[in-house]
Amino acid sequence: MREMFDRIAGRYELLNALMSAGLNRIWNKKAVEATRLKPGERALDLACGTGSLTRDLARRVGPEGYVLGVDFSKEMIQAAKKRPAPNVEYRLGDATDLQGVEDGSFDAATIAYGARNIPDLDALFGELARAVRPGGKVVCLEIARPQGRFFATFYGLWFDRLVPWLGAKISGDAWAYSYLPHSVKEFVASGELAEIMRRNGLQDVTWRKFSGGIVTLYAGTKPG
Ligand SMILES: C[S@@+](CC[C@H](N)C(=O)[O-])C[C@H]1O[C@@H](n2cnc3c(N)ncnc32)[C@H](O)[C@@H]1O
Repeated sequence: MREMFDRIAGRYELLNALMSAGLNRIWNKKAVEATRLKPGERALDLACGTGSLTRDLARRVGPEGYVLGVDFSKEMIQAAKKRPAPNVEYRLGDATDLQGVEDGSFDAATIAYGARNIPDLDALFGELARAVRPGGKVVCLEIARPQGRFFATFYGLWFDRLVPWLGAKISGDAWAYSYLPHSVKEFVASGELAEIMRRNGLQDVTWRKFSGGIVTLYAGTKPG
């Protein structure tokens, strides 16, 4: 898994924008809003990749705030570091076993399109919940499959056929972009993910679907 992400890091953001027809910007904005972060606060972005959401979080907390992006792919972290910001730090690390992150040391923690690739979701949400302070938010953005027949048909053509083709052409890694629709099919249902969040110490867990149900935004709060 790590090597696959190392291989696709170079063209990752371009492909994301193409595959989502630019909607990824709107979904990031929704995720940032759900953190309820204020200027000067601290955010943790797990599986940060090339830092797309990390940079949006940094804009939200402003120059007095701080954002830490963590990813286990060296190439992704290197790509993220090519767009540095004074209030952002990137670190190589495993989202299910965070080193050097103290309990309750962040006001919010996020993960975008990472949960689907992490087999141990209890360990992941355990770490997300541990890292935030009481009252802090944990936000998870993830790709989903739409329910309605119209969207499902369109999505099938787009995501199961066009995305693997486009991904193979642009990134040169056919396997990575055929794995993508497969991983979405295999991912847990929304209710199940919400339950995983609850049993790992989060409360008031909600989820919302966007853009015809192709993306789900989960949010929970650490009890105060
Ligand atoms: C689809 S990308 C998402 C990147 C970024 N969050 C975004 O919004 O574009 C998934 C990322 O998860 C990272 N990843 C997967 N498993 C991980 C783990 N156990 N610990 C840290 N990073 C992980 C991969 O290296 C990859 O960069």
